Amino acid sequence: MDRHSTLILSILLNALTTTFFSPVYAGTFDREFDITWGGGRGKVLNNGELLTLSLDRASGSGFQSKKEYLFGKIDMQIKLVPGNSAGTVTTYYLKSKGDTWDEIDFEFLGNLTGDPYVMHTNVYTQGKGDREQQFHLWFDPTADFHTYSVLWNHHHIVFLVDGIPIRQFKNLEHRRIPYPIMQPMRLYSSLWNADQWATRGGLVKTDWSKAPFTASYRNFRADACVSYTGKPSCPAGSPRWLSHRFDLTAENNMRVVQRKFMVYNYCTDSKRFPQGFPKECGIH
Ligand SMILES: *[C@@H]1O[C@H](CO)[C@@H](O)[C@H](O)[C@H]1NC(C)=O
Repeated sequence: MDRHSTLILSILLNALTTTFFSPVYAGTFDREFDITWGGGRGKVLNNGELLTLSLDRASGSGFQSKKEYLFGKIDMQIKLVPGNSAGTVTTYYLKSKGDTWDEIDFEFLGNLTGDPYVMHTNVYTQGKGDREQQFHLWFDPTADFHTYSVLWNHHHIVFLVDGIPIRQFKNLEHRRIPYPIMQPMRLYSSLWNADQWATRGGLVKTDWSKAPFTASYRNFRADACVSYTGKPSCPAGSPRWLSHRFDLTAENNMRVVQRKFMVYNYCTDSKRFPQGFPKECGIH
């Protein structure tokens, strides 16, 4: 094995042990979420331990959190639409209200059987996004549940997959790049049809003979400040996520993962930004 593979393996093993020993929070879906659309296509099952969304020709479905969060570490285990999922998109994101909203996005773009999902990520601050980074995953996200997390504090936003950081958006307010610090965000998820653009840029259409398509959710956990009418109430003590920052090793480890699995980065797409890259792209 080369040095990179060894490093990735050790990062992966490390994450596995943390996942293994983390506590399980059962029965939370009926307490924490509302199914907001889809006419019965979204379901809470197993005494609130499992939630499923489905999509057919007539409609997709979606849910949202009852609470709003202002900073935290939020984990969800998701099992994506298996088989031929081309044309389907599963979204999982945090978003605040209004015209100058903040948003932290995961989107999973389906594919033909055996072809890889694309995990799309984006960060909006004050209503402006255009910060896409896309990844392939190092596992089949339809074979089992995997944990997708957002860590959001005053220093940075980190996207994690099974505990492994894959993307960071730093607080660069001192360089006049807006950062989400004021607006509480709700958690949303949906399963819908986007075959105009999702798979190979819209070339592969949804095969409705395979409907209904289903994605499943479990073990939601929000170790977060919860905003009640604008006043956030934070977990007691000083949770580790609150002061989390990357040291050099952690940042390098993330770059190794990115080199292997990132398939699109707005910061290297020169065709898209002929006038020069967004400011944050040049700051490390
Ligand atoms: C689907 O598979 C093709 C072929 O491997 C790949 O190029 C593409 O990035 C995959 N994902 C999507 C969402 O199109």
